[in-house]
Amino acid sequence: MTARAAVLAGIGSAVPPRVVTNHDLAGRMDTSDEWIRTRTGIAERRVVDPGTATSDLAIAAGRRALDSAGDPGVGAVVIGTATPDHPCPATGPIVAAGLDLGTVPAFDVGAVCSGFLYALVTGAGLIAAEAADSVLVIGADAFTTIVDPHDRTTAPIFADGAGAVVLRAGSPDEPGALREMLLASDGLQADLIRVAAGGSRQRSHHTEALREDLYLTMRGGEVFKNAVLRMTESSRTVLARTGWSTADVDLLVGHQANVRILHAVAEQLGVGLERAYVNIGHTGNTAAASIPLALDDAVGEGRLHAGDKVLLTAFGAGTTWGAVTLTWPDRLSRAGAPATSAA
Ligand code: COA
Repeated sequence: MTARAAVLAGIGSAVPPRVVTNHDLAGRMDTSDEWIRTRTGIAERRVVDPGTATSDLAIAAGRRALDSAGDPGVGAVVIGTATPDHPCPATGPIVAAGLDLGTVPAFDVGAVCSGFLYALVTGAGLIAAEAADSVLVIGADAFTTIVDPHDRTTAPIFADGAGAVVLRAGSPDEPGALREMLLASDGLQADLIRVAAGGSRQRSHHTEALREDLYLTMRGGEVFKNAVLRMTESSRTVLARTGWSTADVDLLVGHQANVRILHAVAEQLGVGLERAYVNIGHTGNTAAASIPLALDDAVGEGRLHAGDKVLLTAFGAGTTWGAVTLTWPDRLSRAGAPATSAA
């Protein structure tokens, strides 16, 4: 009996319309366009206006992914996000309702910048277990809502957006099939990137919560080193399990955290920089959205072709990381131009 595999059948993305440039940031904090570009590769990013929530971005991206897949039917919705609309309930059911998907199971996966890979593997697992025949997998974050807009160590990096894919049941040897998957975590590093207050450990509705505890803090240098190490290690492992060499990889799509991280991972793996996809220049770090947003942009630029061997890898707060290999499907159109409207 052939194993049931998850096969990529649709893709879409959405970003909010407001563009914030490095020059805009330099007007409100001690930084410069030159510093941000050279240290991170980011020139501009998209930022939600008050009133736009993660589910608005997720619904727009999900609708485009469903359009691109034709009429796939949806058996479940899995959303990777660290910025849910509310602490309770989860964002998944809100998104499923917004997409008129009836009473399908819908839930959130919390792995911050690795959130899309965690959601993707969860979706593939639902298909393998025959709990669903097709799954809408979304990575979505209104991440700027947890970043101090005046903190020069985080505000230039993070941004907002959503990306989505449709997975359907298929066979492991057809184009579009997810191949090998690896997820990992190290909670001993939980304080490398975190928002201290607002959860059950330090409740924000008690007035003593400090302003800095309500926003994201990050030990940037340590995050940088760990991201390169973990993304490289996990990529090597999934490539070996797939039976691919680094020379086989047509496109490396890493979590868009920092162009220097992406280049360091590519160099350590021995994947030429021309095969390492980078769109962080205009997206910033959109957390769980970054990989599907990058894939959708790569489709729009004609960088992905039927049968291409694709390597995905991410690292994020938790800490969490992972890597996935897949082949690119025969036909996967981008549903419309890059989405700039959230709702
Ligand atoms: N503008 C200007 N100067 C800045 C600055 C900014 N936005 N942010 C920091 N600096 C200053 C620092 O104060 C420091 O000054 P000092 O030398 O006088 O102390 C100097 O620039 C270097 O800071 P440092 O933190 O060592 O820079 P860096 O090269 O490590 O780059 C990051 C900082 C955050 C860009 C980098 O560490 C990084 O990208 N880390 C990973 C972040 C990430 O990917 N997070 C998400 C993971 S999912």
